[in-house]
Amino acid sequence: MAHKIIRNWHVAPGTAPTDFDKRVLGFQNRGELVPKRELIKTPEQIEGIRRSGVVNTGVLDLIEKEIHAGMSTAEIDRLVYDYTTAHGAIPAPLNYEGFPKSVCTSINEVVCHGIPSEDDILEEGDIINVDVSTILDGYYSDASRMFVIGQTTPEKEKLVRVAKECLEIGAEAAKPWGFVGDIGKAISRHAHKNGFGVVRALCGHGVGLEFHEEPEVDHYNTHRKGMLLVPGMVFTIEPMINMGTWEVFIDEEDGWTVVTEDELPSAQWEHTFLMTEHGLEILTH
Ligand code: MF3
Ligand code: CO
Repeated sequence: MAHKIIRNWHVAPGTAPTDFDKRVLGFQNRGELVPKRELIKTPEQIEGIRRSGVVNTGVLDLIEKEIHAGMSTAEIDRLVYDYTTAHGAIPAPLNYEGFPKSVCTSINEVVCHGIPSEDDILEEGDIINVDVSTILDGYYSDASRMFVIGQTTPEKEKLVRVAKECLEIGAEAAKPWGFVGDIGKAISRHAHKNGFGVVRALCGHGVGLEFHEEPEVDHYNTHRKGMLLVPGMVFTIEPMINMGTWEVFIDEEDGWTVVTEDELPSAQWEHTFLMTEHGLEILTH
């Protein structure tokens, strides 16, 4: 069966096709998956997301300064809530699909979506992902960093470093008029070269006007091209890299916490990016 062309792109009603339209339509007519026009942000929207990203980065910088052994993840949550609201913004995770806190805190074998708690006390040698997402004037930004509590093992140090390299290498592979699939291909090559697994169950995503928009950005090699990357698109890359198997499960009790199947540690870094004519620009620096 010949595959059907998905006609996501339409010329703005009542106008002649621009050179930009023609370029996208060229890909669409060759059967490639192209974005809907609404995924191409206007300059005003990009400025809004950029301003949201400034607050989001401020939160992560604050956590970087304050995080220490003996602190609970609930204390991190309070710092995030207070800083964000003091800057006229809203923590995007709070009440998002029932998520109860303002930030995700994921320690060691927790891959992502860890829920802050008074009972989770950071210990020397822990590695933790703090995933911060901000809504400012209706615009969303999303970024996360790893923090090492005191001194950890060389293996965990390496995991944190390689996960960061995976984000950088994935971002480098994302080219204007290239494809989403290029990102996961590059990330998985680097992770596997280092003997690590790449989580498949969770992906990066379009972001900006909503928390999670199209496209899905897989971090493993799907062997598919995925969506065309067009200047003006805004999305995250957020590879979750496991010391052991790529397989994960969700804690049944809370319905959120994602944990590695083998309970070996996992690391993740994330930025929100704008695709430009020259490649990706980080909006959460
Ligand atoms: N911040 C996560 C992401 O990178 C999403 C977390 S959803 C939440 O996409 F509800 F857990 F906050
Ligand atoms: Co994200």
